[in-house]
Amino acid sequence: MRKLFNTQPIFSAVLFRCKYSTAPKSVATVRLNNKDFISDDYTNITPKIISYLNRNLHLQKGNPLSLVRQCIVKYFYSSFTHRGHPAFSVYDNLSPIVTAKQNFDDLLIPADHPSRAKSDCYYINKDVLLRAHMTAHQMELLRSGLDNFLMIGDVYRRDEIDSTHFPVFHQVDAVRSQSSKELFGEDQDLKIFEPTYDIENPHNFKNSISDPMKQSCHTLEASKLMETQLKTHLLGLVYYLFGDDIEHRWVDAYFPFTHPSWELEILYEGKWMEVLGCGIVRNEILVNAGPSNSIAYAFGLGLERLAMALYKIPDIRLMWSTDSGFLAQFNTDNIQDKITYKPVSVYPQCTNDISFWLPSNVTTDSFVNNDFYDLVRDIGGDIIEQVSLKDKFIHPKSKKHSLCYSIVYRHLERTLKQEEVNQVHKKIEQAVTDSFNVVIR
Ligand code: PHE
Repeated sequence: MRKLFNTQPIFSAVLFRCKYSTAPKSVATVRLNNKDFISDDYTNITPKIISYLNRNLHLQKGNPLSLVRQCIVKYFYSSFTHRGHPAFSVYDNLSPIVTAKQNFDDLLIPADHPSRAKSDCYYINKDVLLRAHMTAHQMELLRSGLDNFLMIGDVYRRDEIDSTHFPVFHQVDAVRSQSSKELFGEDQDLKIFEPTYDIENPHNFKNSISDPMKQSCHTLEASKLMETQLKTHLLGLVYYLFGDDIEHRWVDAYFPFTHPSWELEILYEGKWMEVLGCGIVRNEILVNAGPSNSIAYAFGLGLERLAMALYKIPDIRLMWSTDSGFLAQFNTDNIQDKITYKPVSVYPQCTNDISFWLPSNVTTDSFVNNDFYDLVRDIGGDIIEQVSLKDKFIHPKSKKHSLCYSIVYRHLERTLKQEEVNQVHKKIEQAVTDSFNVVIR
């Protein structure tokens, strides 16, 4: 029923075979970075999303994300050295095309975990997707023998549309491992592992996370010391970026790949804003990556949020601006310069509503909002500022379900004319009708 992909010309049968087309069946492929991938009924990557690949905003001179990246790398380089060299290595050009094994299985994410849903990720096919987090590379880097590293890059998630959400954003993810000697120094009485855990046969131990304080394989002192280091290092980073006056709080969290886990929130413009997730790496991951007698912490933080707060950038789409008036503001050689974004100018918004009757086999609850948002973005492109659900309605007699969304249009660099918006809006109505089998009201 849903034909999300045949709404733009470049997505002709050459790229995707439409599931419902009567054309002869041929193997349909998606071409990404000069490689062909066979598509299947998981394929939900869109032409718009493909167009964001290889932009590498985190490496682009003058981009605020690149500035924040440099600050974070500098903090880690200068805070941790080993024999005069930085202890952390940095990986910032790993391909965003990863396997489901890398993104989920290697990180102990259960087969039925909601984060795997097609409605949340951009799949190229059942086994390959655009990474939904930088943690997807943790296993391969651990396996290659690294113990302290940063992974920086673009990640892709299907999400709502507003001034703080964009389907592509950037993360810094990290692992820091410590051997018993590194953690406790010469104090040989302190151990990382409980006596029941046999370092020679780690697979024999059934590690449990039922104790909220620690994993069952770890001693309390090792887990607590790592927790203290983790929190001190990350708080140090936040102070380094925002200054010592910033208020913070730690919130207990859950991630399948760490235990215990926390989120760090900072007070920004009177509201608590989550800036990162972190925790003690599940020992099973370290064991699967190779011989392990160490304990590690890991964290992942979003660059957009930090950049928006640091430089007072009001809209996440601005990160993608190629306007020289924007980029010039962040083109500095001193990464610690205090920069406050000055709007190039502010153009007016246009809001048009769209309401439609759903087909009889779809309810207002079963309709996948993210499918709708992607379609709107596919047709409207970057002039879509916000899409919000305005109303749900069930007709008392016909029992038909109906939805109404508001679409806010705004161009970042010029005034949009209402007629121009109406034309795009019409195209969206047509595409929604074609793809979801709805009837515009
Ligand atoms: N990958 C997590 C996310 O994207 C963040 C995280 C990384 C949490 C590493 C814990 C450890 O939300």
